[in-house]
Amino acid sequence: MRAVVIDQGELHVLERPDPEAGPGEAVVAVCAAGLNAADLLQRRGHYPAPPGWPVDVPGMEFSGRVLSVGEGVDDALIGTRVCGIVGGGAQATRVLVPAAHLMAVPDSVDLTVAGAFCEAFVTAYDALVLRAGLVGGQRLLVSGASGGVGNAAVQIGRLVGAHVIAVTRHVDHRAALEDLGADEVIDLAEVSTLDPVDVVLELVGAAHLSLALGRLAPFATVVVIGVSGGGAKVEVNLLGLMAARATLTGSTLRSRPAAEKTDLIARCADALLGPLAHGQLRVPLASRFALEDVDEAYEYFSRPGKFGKVALVVPGQR
Ligand SMILES: NC(=O)c1ccc[n+]([C@@H]2O[C@H](COP(=O)([O-])OP(=O)(O)OC[C@H]3O[C@@H](n4cnc5c(N)ncnc54)[C@H](OP(=O)(O)O)[C@@H]3O)[C@@H](O)[C@H]2O)c1
Repeated sequence: MRAVVIDQGELHVLERPDPEAGPGEAVVAVCAAGLNAADLLQRRGHYPAPPGWPVDVPGMEFSGRVLSVGEGVDDALIGTRVCGIVGGGAQATRVLVPAAHLMAVPDSVDLTVAGAFCEAFVTAYDALVLRAGLVGGQRLLVSGASGGVGNAAVQIGRLVGAHVIAVTRHVDHRAALEDLGADEVIDLAEVSTLDPVDVVLELVGAAHLSLALGRLAPFATVVVIGVSGGGAKVEVNLLGLMAARATLTGSTLRSRPAAEKTDLIARCADALLGPLAHGQLRVPLASRFALEDVDEAYEYFSRPGKFGKVALVVPGQR
């Protein structure tokens, strides 16, 4: 197979041995692999893959067709269109994955788009619905709304019937965010004058969170998922937290035990694949690049101003 390989901060596309499916596993011929901020960190040596995953091949999400399965996995899976998450190794023409971490891609959904679906939507669903308990009628504040996870969160907020407030630093993204389901689109400065919110999804970090903490409704929940450049340290007014009887929590997906991921994938498949099939959930793609152009793809991803996800595509793989 061909794989993106990190070597001392450089990216190379190299030949690697094809993976073989062991018990409970599947090998997928990759069609597309979404990029994530974690890939850029890993490239710089800051975010190693968790134990058991390829140490030098990045990529945490993919789509493709199942090529082979190991013992204990139904042969009927072979040839089907799937997408999924892995701890690493997705930016390659083949990826090895626990079969229980795969989701079926609905017929109506383009396989390239599906390659950029899982990481953002599973992360957002877990944070909003399973951790914060977001329900219809609540006010949801999403920072970094123009990015992949932000786009997913806005749509999941709409799906559950929440009032969605999307924060972006790009006014030209307003119409696109409204189209995804944002009831209000604001910039960072406007956060400090918002009516109280019930749930905050924090994707930016201190630059936004320091403002959002002053806008919490009683029993609000703040879920910190990322610090996209907004700083990882924030001053918290504990009296404000107490007065709101608020919950401040955080989460990561990549390093979770396999059994937890299995459970989460099953819940997400139940909740999200129907809406995805019917177009109620979409994966806006800011851009797509051929696997061999991985350098350009990482460069593009790291630049501000994009709307949605970035996908690496394996030419000829459908
Ligand atoms: N915990 C987990 O398991 C998990 C899973 C997936 C992602 N994440 C994290 O979640 C975050 C979002 O991921 P993503 O895939 O959506 O990334 P993304 O597509 O790059 O989006 C990040 C968004 O944040 C905005 N932003 C960055 N710095 C900002 C600042 N200082 N002030 C205001 N806005 C700022 C960006 O705007 P510009 O375009 O203007 O820069 C962009 O719209 C990342 O930190 C990522 O590492 C965590």
